[in-house]
Amino acid sequence: MSTPDLLLPAEIRDGLKTFTVGQERIDYCAVIDSTNVRARMIADEGAPEGTIVVAEAQLKGKGRRGRSWFSPAGQGIYVSVILRPQVPPAEATQLVLMAAVAAAEALLSHADLPVSVKWPNDILVGGKKIAGILTEMRLDGDRIDHVVIGMGVNVNTPAESLPPEIRAIATSLSAETGRTFSRAGLLRTYLEKLEGWYTLFRERRFEPIRGRWLEIARIIGKSVKIAGVDRIYEGEVVDIDPNGFLILKSPGGALQRILAGDVSLVEAPPLPAGSEGFR
Ligand code: BTN
Repeated sequence: MSTPDLLLPAEIRDGLKTFTVGQERIDYCAVIDSTNVRARMIADEGAPEGTIVVAEAQLKGKGRRGRSWFSPAGQGIYVSVILRPQVPPAEATQLVLMAAVAAAEALLSHADLPVSVKWPNDILVGGKKIAGILTEMRLDGDRIDHVVIGMGVNVNTPAESLPPEIRAIATSLSAETGRTFSRAGLLRTYLEKLEGWYTLFRERRFEPIRGRWLEIARIIGKSVKIAGVDRIYEGEVVDIDPNGFLILKSPGGALQRILAGDVSLVEAPPLPAGSEGFR
């Protein structure tokens, strides 16, 4: 008889190769409103760096920009990690990109899929979203008290179980491969990758993360449209700056630094007949 694929602390710690993340404290919940909400609460109460909150299901899974995160029982990974980085708050965006790199690498090491990241922190397969990250920060004066890095990934969700409103834009590991995956195994890999990149971040700051993010994102030179907080930006992506912000060249040639937004690729117009191969 096979054991059920649960995310119990003992399952997660079995073979977990980290020093801090997931070692001292794992809060396991069969059902919770949101792992990020709980992680923020226990971080305020003093939970140590590396504490994780993990759930089998979320009733009010939170997405970016006030959206919700589909969190059915036993099918995905819903996890929040508490970090206490000693860097200025302005550098927190770098941790968002760090988490996206860790999640993308974890997926790549379990499945041979064309995984990519979309700025700042969506993880895609074949243009569809498979995982997302929601980072929330508490400041104490002008320093960071803690950062909660919430990550959700659609693992064993059958394609037909994805809600109709996201079916065209979302996918899961099992929908892409036709296989089922050990959620505990995938979660361990993510925690190990996250700790590895966080250690490097403390030693060498953002540059190595930026390099890896750019490798996985393959977005430089692409034409994009970005729905920002109060306007739409259009242009060509030219860089990610040292803080993790997106640098866009507008059609007029001006450079803009985008702090937040939803990016979509602008399809190039069809090539005129006879000009194939010149793009
Ligand atoms: C997004 O892409 O919009 C971000 C989704 C983040 C979802 C995860 S699931 C675990 C953690 N708890 C939450 O309530 N949200 C994050």
